[in-house]
Amino acid sequence: MRKILFATSEVHPLMKTGGLADVSASLPMALSEQGQDVRIVMPAYRKCLHELGHIDSVATIKLEGYHLPVEILQTTLPGSGVILWLVHSPHHFDRDGGPYSHPVGHDWDDNAARFALLSRAAVALATDEAGLNWQADIVHCNDWQTGLVPALLAGREQRPNTIFTIHNLAYQGMFSYDTFKSLDLPDALWHYEGLEFYGQLSFMKGGLIFADHITTVSPTYAEEICTYEFGYGLEGLLSYRAEQGRLTGILNGIDYQVWNPETDTNLSKTYSTKTLRNKAANKLAMQQEFFLPENSDSLLIGLISRLVSQKGIDLAIHALTNILEAGHDIQFICLGSGEAQFEHELRVLRARFPDRVAVTIGYDESLSHQIEAGADVFLMPSRFEPCGLNQMYSLRYGTLPIVRNTGGLADTVVDASDENRKAGLANGFCFNDASVVSLQQTLLRAVGLFARPRIWRSMMLTAMQQDLSWNHSANAYIELYQSLAKR
Ligand code: ADP
Ligand code: GLC
Repeated sequence: MRKILFATSEVHPLMKTGGLADVSASLPMALSEQGQDVRIVMPAYRKCLHELGHIDSVATIKLEGYHLPVEILQTTLPGSGVILWLVHSPHHFDRDGGPYSHPVGHDWDDNAARFALLSRAAVALATDEAGLNWQADIVHCNDWQTGLVPALLAGREQRPNTIFTIHNLAYQGMFSYDTFKSLDLPDALWHYEGLEFYGQLSFMKGGLIFADHITTVSPTYAEEICTYEFGYGLEGLLSYRAEQGRLTGILNGIDYQVWNPETDTNLSKTYSTKTLRNKAANKLAMQQEFFLPENSDSLLIGLISRLVSQKGIDLAIHALTNILEAGHDIQFICLGSGEAQFEHELRVLRARFPDRVAVTIGYDESLSHQIEAGADVFLMPSRFEPCGLNQMYSLRYGTLPIVRNTGGLADTVVDASDENRKAGLANGFCFNDASVVSLQQTLLRAVGLFARPRIWRSMMLTAMQQDLSWNHSANAYIELYQSLAKR
């Protein structure tokens, strides 16, 4: 049994902007089920404090660079026995809005100070400077918000091993030199083999340079980030670490309790591989809910996403517009929020094709389950996708994903080519170029195959039978923890 401190800036259901939150709940739970002593540390955001009610304070600590002491609150992750430590610094975290941004959208001005504080608190907990009589063997850090942890631990004797997981290289936590000075970090860290990146402070580099091991959330993304196209200028460093054997891709799993069409209470009708016909009731429910014609023969396309360029939303809007203009029998339901331009274009699409298109701008957990169950296909034409969870939720719900061949999408979706179908491997549709034409052709391929129910049904079964649980990947992390202890 190893003692693992899992440091993260979001955990479902307490705070979530994306897949990081899902993984930060489901991976620690899977590790705990495999007998590891894993504890999570995250900020005590206002939303967490409200949802959890009274929580005991178990330590008060003074952190370098901060005037006021910080409290550590202890509870358990809802629905599990995993210990959750919340870093309570009201000045930094007890405010309305998201974890990184103001209620109206722009990033908080003090994000560097906020996440440096999270990192310092994680170090104090891991080394037992917090006095909780628990010392970590491994600190598992996630994304730039925890990138300073490996940097702060690196110089110490008797330190825990560190792992840094990249969930998305596009967000690096970059700040000015003045900000670096204001954080009271050791001067030696201002170095190109440290936190400095082209004259700026990079939190992400703290993880990439100083962690004992780097992981990312799919094998294909692990290769992609070592290239110019996906590396954001960090590809040289990442290639170097890969050559040292210090960069691995471990595919995320999904929470089989939360995402299970057989027991999902959000659905109109639950279903499984044995009662597949019940899925149709969920399609009908979505058509009724959104006032779309109640036609089972129309291909219902679902999309749930942060509306940002990463996700290829522009490609989706253009390809769908062309297909609708050409009069093909499709319906489209979209749930998402993000960049104003995409929200606007989706509303325009809805206005142009009111009997074909439904758009909900916002965040809605329950509706996301209903769309996963009700749609025939799930659209995810991402330009890059470190792992992607939605295509996996779709597979589990027998909703065939249409994806670009990149990152975790490439690692989970097998295209419906003749060859793959004959081999019984096909579970969705893939295309290579991030272009409207490629996506459009692939959508039309799906329309064509949807008219052949036997083939479609067998692909649904292949999708639903795929093992997407954490079993395999949680073991891969445990093996990695063990190998670090031996190094
Ligand atoms: P990313 O983390 O890049 O956004 P993922 O596919 O890994 O992409 O995870 C996205 C997660 O956020 C999924 O759990 C998805 O269901 C959820 N999600 C995204 N947008 C919405 C929304 N508007 N309403 C409900 N859930 C959403
Ligand atoms: C990031 C990535 C997404 C991944 C998620 C969880 O948000 O964009 O692809 O699934 O992290 O690892």
